[in-house]
Amino acid sequence: MSISSCTCGQDVTETELMTRLEEVIKENKDKAGGLIPALQMAQIIFGYLPDMVVDRIAEGFNKTITEVAGVISFYSFFTRNPRGKYLVRVCLGTACYVRGGKEVLEAIKKRLEIDVGETTEDRQFSLEVGRCFGACGMAPVVMVNDETYQRVKPARINEFIAQFATDEELVLEGEEK
Ligand code: FES
Repeated sequence: MSISSCTCGQDVTETELMTRLEEVIKENKDKAGGLIPALQMAQIIFGYLPDMVVDRIAEGFNKTITEVAGVISFYSFFTRNPRGKYLVRVCLGTACYVRGGKEVLEAIKKRLEIDVGETTEDRQFSLEVGRCFGACGMAPVVMVNDETYQRVKPARINEFIAQFATDEELVLEGEEK
C-alpha cells in the first residue's frame, strides 16, 4: 500500500516507514532523554504522529500511551494530525495583533474553511498561529513553511492563498480580486 510520497517522487510503503520507525526506536530507547529525538524522527518519517506510531513508540520505550501523549502535547512542534503541503502560521504576537493579525487569521480561516490546528481536506494547507516571528516592524506577518510574508492584508487573502493553491477553485477565486 502506498501511503506517502517523498521528495524524490518515489512512493514509500507503510512497511518501509515502520521499518525506519523500528530503527529509530532501537537507536534511542536506551538513551537518557531518547524519547524526544525518537518522536522528532518519527514525525519526519511520517509527517505527523499518528496513533499507531505513538502506540509503537510507547511500547518501545516501555511507557504508557498517556505518558508519550503528554510529551507530544507539551511541545508545539509535534503534531498528531497530518499537516498540509503548506503550513500557514499567522502571527498573533502583540505588534501583529494590534495591526490586524486577528483579522488576517479570520480571513484565512474563512478562505480555507478550516480552524486553527486543522488541515484542508486536500492536504494542501494547515493553519496555526505563532507568537512573534521577529518581523514586528512589518506586521501583520504570516509564515508559510519557511517564508515570511509581511503586511498581509485581510482584504487580499484570496490572492495570498491563490499563489500557493493548486486547487482550481481556490486559484480562480483568488484571481477574481
Ligand atoms: S509580533 Fe508578529 S512578528 Fe513580532
